[in-house]
Amino acid sequence: MFFPFLQVLWLFASLKALVRAQRPELLKLYAPTIGSKCPDITQNPLLREFTPGTQALHPKESAYIDTRESTVIPKAWQDWLGTGEQIGYNVSVLSSKFSRIAIAFSGEIDPPINYLLLLEKTTKRTLATGGSWFTGSLYFNDFVTIPDLVYGDGKDRGGWLLDLDLFRPGGFDVFDDDNTRFFQSVTTSVLAKALTGIHTSVTDAWSRMLSYHFFNQTTRANFFTNDTAHGAGQLWSNLPHSSMFQEYNVPLPLIVFDSRPSGTETDGWTPLDVPVYEVSPFEMGSWDPNVSAMVNLTYVGTHLSNGKPDNDNACVTGFDEAGFIIGTSSSLFSVLLNTGQTILKGWGGRSCAALEYLVSMLLESIEMKADDVANWPNPFNGVKRDTYIDTNTGRLELVDGGLNLENIPLGPLFVNSRNVDFILAVDGSADTSHSWPNGTSTIYTNLRLNTVLESSHQKFPPIPATSDDFVSMGLNLRPTLFGCDPVSASNPEYPLVLYLPNAPPLTGATPVTNSDTFQLSYSSRHTRMFLEQAHANTIGGFLPNADSPDPDWPKCLQCAAVDRGRMKLSPIVPRSEFCTTCFKQYCYDPENPPSVSQVRNRVLKFQDPEETFFEQHKAAIVGGSVGEALVFLALIGACYGFSRKDKKDGKRGKYTRVASDDETRPLMTPE
Ligand SMILES: *[C@@H]1O[C@H](CO)[C@@H](O)[C@H](O)[C@H]1NC(C)=O
Ligand SMILES: *[C@@H]1O[C@H](CO)[C@@H](O)[C@H](O)[C@H]1NC(C)=O
Ligand SMILES: *[C@@H]1O[C@H](CO)[C@@H](O)[C@H](O)[C@H]1NC(C)=O
Ligand SMILES: *[C@@H]1O[C@H](CO)[C@@H](O)[C@H](O)[C@H]1NC(C)=O
Ligand SMILES: *[C@@H]1O[C@H](CO)[C@@H](O)[C@H](O)[C@H]1NC(C)=O
Ligand SMILES: *[C@@H]1O[C@H](CO)[C@@H](O)[C@H](O)[C@H]1NC(C)=O
Repeated sequence: MFFPFLQVLWLFASLKALVRAQRPELLKLYAPTIGSKCPDITQNPLLREFTPGTQALHPKESAYIDTRESTVIPKAWQDWLGTGEQIGYNVSVLSSKFSRIAIAFSGEIDPPINYLLLLEKTTKRTLATGGSWFTGSLYFNDFVTIPDLVYGDGKDRGGWLLDLDLFRPGGFDVFDDDNTRFFQSVTTSVLAKALTGIHTSVTDAWSRMLSYHFFNQTTRANFFTNDTAHGAGQLWSNLPHSSMFQEYNVPLPLIVFDSRPSGTETDGWTPLDVPVYEVSPFEMGSWDPNVSAMVNLTYVGTHLSNGKPDNDNACVTGFDEAGFIIGTSSSLFSVLLNTGQTILKGWGGRSCAALEYLVSMLLESIEMKADDVANWPNPFNGVKRDTYIDTNTGRLELVDGGLNLENIPLGPLFVNSRNVDFILAVDGSADTSHSWPNGTSTIYTNLRLNTVLESSHQKFPPIPATSDDFVSMGLNLRPTLFGCDPVSASNPEYPLVLYLPNAPPLTGATPVTNSDTFQLSYSSRHTRMFLEQAHANTIGGFLPNADSPDPDWPKCLQCAAVDRGRMKLSPIVPRSEFCTTCFKQYCYDPENPPSVSQVRNRVLKFQDPEETFFEQHKAAIVGGSVGEALVFLALIGACYGFSRKDKKDGKRGKYTRVASDDETRPLMTPE
């Protein structure tokens, strides 16, 4: 009687093996296609150049926003506001001019409501760069709900699998079978790209690793297989073809990169005056006055000179890998490699070994250029010869969008032609000693808008001058509206900005959302608590001298959302009595600033919900279940830090850094 059973079992097993056939060729979808036939650029130029005065949105972007605003959005406002009676307005009167709303958290822009709904469910925190993973993940998972996104839907979506280390998902032992095969898979993708002749770097490996967590083709069951492409081949420029875009159901996502102009030496941080780039689903480029140029995203890997490819068959497609886009915008290596951050000092040994191993695998067949940045072929050669710093450079070196200290990617939302009225700025920066934000990001954005972007962007509303002021006014612990009363109501000098910092629970509970850079694991329990606190923080509002949520906050949010639209009506509809009260409570008034003493009873110190567990299992966790990328990055920094020190001390360093920009030398020379 046992035989048939075993046979069935055997049959089942072989079927499963068949179904799970290894398909490593899928990993190579990461490689761009070179030598593609170029489109007719006399009809459809690949590059568009403008000036601050002639600045215009890509026609497809305008069309998307206009259609969305005239079809999907009005109904969303209606659903949200009802008659408007609850906030003292008549919505039929307001509805001829609603504000255009954007959220900067992860850099989405476009009109309303979804933002607010999204905001209600919005999660994270700590790094602006986390934002780009979040955005990428959301859009490449059909904009599913946050829980389905993070935990998986039990079907195709595997969730973020944050308990699997980004770097050593197989566990502590770098050299175990799972880790080895994972590294080989990552290497297979990067090699495929490198073999096209396009320069790769550590950022490519990083991009592939992120893809295993944040895109839809990886589940716990297939993580250590080559059964799927694990996100390789998913292109940012394909977003407009998805049904959510075709139905105008989603806001427009924008991702920000900073740059390191070729040949410049920095300590990794980028100064405010170097170009900042953005990627939309349609194009990539910079609104900075000294650049003012955009290139068709489908062809973004193509080298262009004065807008022309080298020849008719020299076009590159498939460069805009979604993984590479989120990888570039979280490419912090330039800082870590330079400052050799040693926050994990003493924990480095085995991780350095893992890194060394991975890199040596990459190096077996390729050389990597400018190891610590993302390398993008420069499509902007010949642009703005007099002012564009990279006009003659063959390759753009792009890095994390927060490296100029603009941690909240606000820049794109202030572009004049985007005409944004109301911006939600969600700040999860870890600025203070307890890893809460302190307004630094807005201060830098304000500075950049006032100097570099004066002619191309809207202004920032008045904010406190320093982060010390932010902190002493308590503005980093509560939601605040900036720019409530512009001088010109019909043509406001700046948008209304709602600053929403990651902050301790207003109930006085112990915070879990300010995990600092030492935080190594996100257990599912911690993830859950994290989401709950972030949610409560978002919907709680602020009552001075109290430790309970503001029951009027949801309505005050409605007041803020309609306020700029109201001003644009003619005649202007006066602010309602209810909304005036809200604005008194939430607006920043430089003449009459609030004080931190009104923010009572908040616990600032982070409490790891898994503290005891962590203490007991420290070694294993440090080795095996890192959830936060920063740790991985820091480890690399630490490895570098150590090796550079070795070198300085006259000992032979393990690694050799690329010395100058165009020298072809490997990232690291294995001994
Ligand atoms: C709201 O405005 C509409 C259009 O002006 C008007 O017909 C309606 O009576 C108003 N409703 C209220 C409650 O005032
Ligand atoms: C993953 O997402 C991509 C892009 O959104 C889509 O084309 C593909 O069908 C999805 N695959 C799975 C397995 O869900
Ligand atoms: C995936 O395929 C590559 C190339 O054949 C191989 O080196 C690697 O070990 C495979 N990875 C896994 C997880 O099986
Ligand atoms: C990019 O170029 C191709 C070929 O000309 C064109 O079909 C496509 O619409 C362009 N995309 C954008 C966003 O302009
Ligand atoms: C723009 O170019 C001009 C002319 O080269 C230069 O003086 C100015 O500093 C540049 N601005 C920025 C922000 O780089
Ligand atoms: C604010 O944060 C910055 C780093 O982002 C830090 O240099 C500065 O000292 C902080 N200031 C205060 C008052 O916390």
